[in-house]
Amino acid sequence: MKQDMIAVLDLGSTKNTELARAIRSLGVYSEIYPHDITVNELKKTGNLKGIILYGGENRMVDGVPVEVCPELYDMDCPMMSIDHPTSKCVQQMDTAPDEDGLKKFVFDVCHAEANWNMKNFIEDQVELVRRQVGDKKVLLALSGGVDSSVVAALLIKAIGKQLVCVHVNHGLMRKGESESVIEVFKNQMDANLIYVDAEERFLGKLAGVADPERKRKIIGAEFIRVFEEEARKLEGIDFLAQGTIYPDIIESGTKTAKMVKSHHNVGGLPEDLKFSLVEPLYYLFKDEVRACGLELGLPKEMVYRQPFPGPGLGVRCLGAITKERLEAVRESDAILREEFAAAGLDKKVWQYFTAVPDFKSVGVRDHARCFEYPVIIRAVNTVDAMSATIEQIDWPVLMKITDRIMKEVPNVNRVCYDLSPKPTATIEWE
Ligand code: XMP
Repeated sequence: MKQDMIAVLDLGSTKNTELARAIRSLGVYSEIYPHDITVNELKKTGNLKGIILYGGENRMVDGVPVEVCPELYDMDCPMMSIDHPTSKCVQQMDTAPDEDGLKKFVFDVCHAEANWNMKNFIEDQVELVRRQVGDKKVLLALSGGVDSSVVAALLIKAIGKQLVCVHVNHGLMRKGESESVIEVFKNQMDANLIYVDAEERFLGKLAGVADPERKRKIIGAEFIRVFEEEARKLEGIDFLAQGTIYPDIIESGTKTAKMVKSHHNVGGLPEDLKFSLVEPLYYLFKDEVRACGLELGLPKEMVYRQPFPGPGLGVRCLGAITKERLEAVRESDAILREEFAAAGLDKKVWQYFTAVPDFKSVGVRDHARCFEYPVIIRAVNTVDAMSATIEQIDWPVLMKITDRIMKEVPNVNRVCYDLSPKPTATIEWE
C-alpha cells in the first residue's frame, strides 16, 4: 500500500462518513472500521498513522452502548477522541474538528503524508487484483453504468483478457448506450466482451404486464437468468467482479458491511455458481469513482453519466410495454439529452428523462385529427435521491425540446412538464 491511513472507528456517530471524506479531501486516505476492531486487525490495514474515535453523544450502535478494545489505547499510534472523554487519548475534542483542527491532527500529530491520489490508488489496486486473481478468470456484468464501467477499465488494466465482460442489452437501454459500451470497451480498450442481445426475450416476458412492481421483478429476475446462462457457458471462471462502492457498504453499517463482504452468493445468482468477489472500488466514494474512471481514460460522458435505474426505460414506458411506446421514450429521451447538453443543463441538473404513459390524447396533424401519446419531461435535483426538487428550465429550452419531440418522435402529439417534487411524487413514474 502506498497510502498513509487514518482510521475512523465507528462508535455510532452519523457523521463518520463526513469525517472520512474530510480527511480524504486533505489528500490522506481514511477508512471507517467497526468499533470492536482488534489491534491485530488494525495493524494489518497498512500504513496506519492515526486513529479517530467518533461516537456522537452516547457511543451507541443500534441502541447498545459500545466501547473500543482496551488494547487499542496502548497502541503506538496517535489517537483523537471526539465527544467522549478518554484520558489516554493524545487529543481530546468536544465537537468534530474544523479543517484546521483536522489538518493539525493528521499532519502535525500523526505525520501522515498527503499521498492519497488516484494514480496511487490505481497502482495499488492493480497490484492487489493481480495478487488476488493470479492467472484465473474474472467475470463482470458490464451495464455501462459508472461503477461497472470503472471496474471494467481498472480490471482491463490489471489483468487484460483474463477479464470477461458480459453486456446484456435488455432492450430497455437508452439510445446509443449499448453501442457506446461496445465502442469504448471492445474497440478502444480491446476487452474480452460478450454482447448479449436479449431485447426480444425481455419484451416477450414483459408483454401485457402493466403492474410496476411486477415489471421490475421480471426485469431483475430475467437479467440474472441471462447472466447466469452466459456464466455457465464459460469455462474456468473463479471470480466475479462487482462495482460495489463505499457508500453501499457504510450505509448498511460497518458491522453489517463485514457480513455482506463475506457473503459470496451475489446478486441472486444460484448457490451452485460459486465465485469469489473482486471489488476494486470497495473503498471509493462516488466522486472518487469518477476521478478513477477519468484517470483510467474513460470518456467524460460515461464517467459523468446521470443515474439510470436498473430496469431502464422499462419504468418510463408506463404500464404494459409496447415497442411503439418504448421507441417514443427512447427517441424523446435522446432529444432531451441533446438539448440539455446544448443548453449546458447536463452539468447542472441531477437527473432528467422522459416518460410515455399508456393512453392517447386527441390532436391535429396536417389538418387532420390525430390520436397519439403524450411525452412527459422530468428534470430534478437532489442530493441523496430521498427527496427532490424540480429544475426551473428556461422557457425557450422547453419550447425547443417540445417542438423537436413533436416533429421527430412518431406517435407523439403532446408534451408535458412534470412539476411534482419528491415527495409526494417519486423521481421515476413507476
Ligand atoms: P425514485 O423513483 O424512487 O428514484 O424516487 C430514486 C432514484 O433511484 C433511481 N432508481 C433506481 N436505480 N435501480 C437503480 O439502480 C432501480 O431499480 C431504480 N429505481 C429507481 C431513480 O432513477 C432515481 O435516481
